[in-house]
Amino acid sequence: MNRALIGIAVLLFFSWVLLTAQTSKKAADANGHAWWQHAVFYEIYPRSFADSNNDGIGDLKGITSKLDYLKDLGVDAIWITPFFPSPQVDFGYDVSDYEAIDPMYGSLGDFDALTVAARQRGIRVILDLVVNHTSDQHKWFLDSKSSRTAQRRDWYIWRDGKAPGQPPNNWTANFGGSAWKFDPTTKQYYYHYFYPEQPDLNWRNPAVKQAMFDVTRWWYKRGVSGFRLDAVNTLFEDPNLKDNPVRPGKSAYGDPLQEHKYNTNLPEIHEALRQLRKVTDQYNGVLIGETWTADINELNAYYGKGNNELQLPMDFLFTNINKLSAAEFRKQIAAINSASGWPTFVISNHDIVRSYDRYGDGRHNDEIAKLMAGLYLTLRGTPILYYGEEIGMKTTPPARKEDVQDPKGRTGWPQDKGRDGERTPMQWDQSENAGFTRGKPWLPVPPTAKTHNVAVETNDAQSILSFYKKLLKLRHSNRELLEGNYLPINQNDQNVLSYLRVYQDQAVIVSLNMSGAPQKVNYELKKNGFASAKPLVTTGQSSSNGDFVTLDPYGVFIGQLVR
Ligand code: NOJ
Ligand code: CA
Repeated sequence: MNRALIGIAVLLFFSWVLLTAQTSKKAADANGHAWWQHAVFYEIYPRSFADSNNDGIGDLKGITSKLDYLKDLGVDAIWITPFFPSPQVDFGYDVSDYEAIDPMYGSLGDFDALTVAARQRGIRVILDLVVNHTSDQHKWFLDSKSSRTAQRRDWYIWRDGKAPGQPPNNWTANFGGSAWKFDPTTKQYYYHYFYPEQPDLNWRNPAVKQAMFDVTRWWYKRGVSGFRLDAVNTLFEDPNLKDNPVRPGKSAYGDPLQEHKYNTNLPEIHEALRQLRKVTDQYNGVLIGETWTADINELNAYYGKGNNELQLPMDFLFTNINKLSAAEFRKQIAAINSASGWPTFVISNHDIVRSYDRYGDGRHNDEIAKLMAGLYLTLRGTPILYYGEEIGMKTTPPARKEDVQDPKGRTGWPQDKGRDGERTPMQWDQSENAGFTRGKPWLPVPPTAKTHNVAVETNDAQSILSFYKKLLKLRHSNRELLEGNYLPINQNDQNVLSYLRVYQDQAVIVSLNMSGAPQKVNYELKKNGFASAKPLVTTGQSSSNGDFVTLDPYGVFIGQLVR
């Protein structure tokens, strides 16, 4: 072999080793934990993260340029919300081709470059799989609506109206209006749980299932490590189309309220998830669920009996706690710890008001942002950080109806201003548009970007960002935080949420002051065989002395118990 050929052969061998490394990693560590149980996930809304070509919209190259930042922050996996070709009615959640990239975000080449660069930094890439519906411009739907006998007619849900001009039943769409749209060509209605431009797929048709499973295979082969399943609780509907029970009151869109009894969380979902999980396991992948549930039993069902469905169904019941209440968080943490699978914690995402405003009191928001980090980054479970939480980004809803981008913010105005507020550009530095773009950003940057941005906070040891970094570093190295059980203590305290993370004979104590007054807590450490709590990560003046921990208002104390 000549030298050039040997060089190529060596190169090919190493790229093969690199490519297979991720899928061939052992499924579990000595404690039975898989990679996704120790990983810190970070959600990126690509439109708003970093704009490489200054058209005002973030893109894949922008994400690649920020991987060093993410590595330094302590992120192990990024979940990127949809960047597939799309008419962008729901900003990408209306997919018109599952196996390509929308040109506004870049190309497949850019995607491959992103995954390679991420892998070099030990960061995995998770995609968003919109399983429940496609865009009305997807070729599957264009075929389906073309005639009643089209090959893919049954890939979507078509029904006759109840009577002329009347939809098949009373189901309302999540974003307002009837969930049925009449199509004049074939004179039937199709079903859409979200916008009319997002027709629901018919998951009772095996061909649909296979097509979606194949999509995941296609991306696994391209190097992704799993999927976040969009709106997974809406996959199936009652075949008899029973009317939903109506509740008193009206939605922001003027529809009578109803309980989504016959079109969400149907038992049929679980068989489909078991099948998808089999595909996932072939690639050592992870399935994260957008699992909106009424209670813990419904959520628990998503792990599957024997943990054979979703590994990480998100606990949105945790996000429903909208005030700082030690008692309420204690209750919900206990509930998720009694579930049969591994907990998944989020405090914000691209659909809900940012935690900075949800919990902030207007005066201590920065302290409260650290307090919330002290909570969801030290619990037993996998955290998913929403971009910008680590710098204290605030929600900035549109000031005027004519500025609204998210369509439901126009129909729901002013009661529901849509989701623009939690999707504003990432704040990188103090320059114009916070360094997100040199063009006109698709959503405005708030004035607080001058103080709350990556550049300023990197140079401030007391910033929210510095706190996140310290905490994530600890989380990656401390055995108790990685592997330990969750043990609530001082459970009658109304102000301070306290727990231990216990691994073998070692324990870490987490003490979180959810009140605006200083607190002094007696943990009776000596009585329990410990001399003191040695500080690991704390905020402000919070400290320990013998049995006692003293906390600033909204203060955090995380310490190692020593004998
Ligand atoms: C949930 C997504 O998070 C949201 O942004 C989207 O509008 C709906 N699913 C519909 O896909
Ligand atoms: Ca761009």
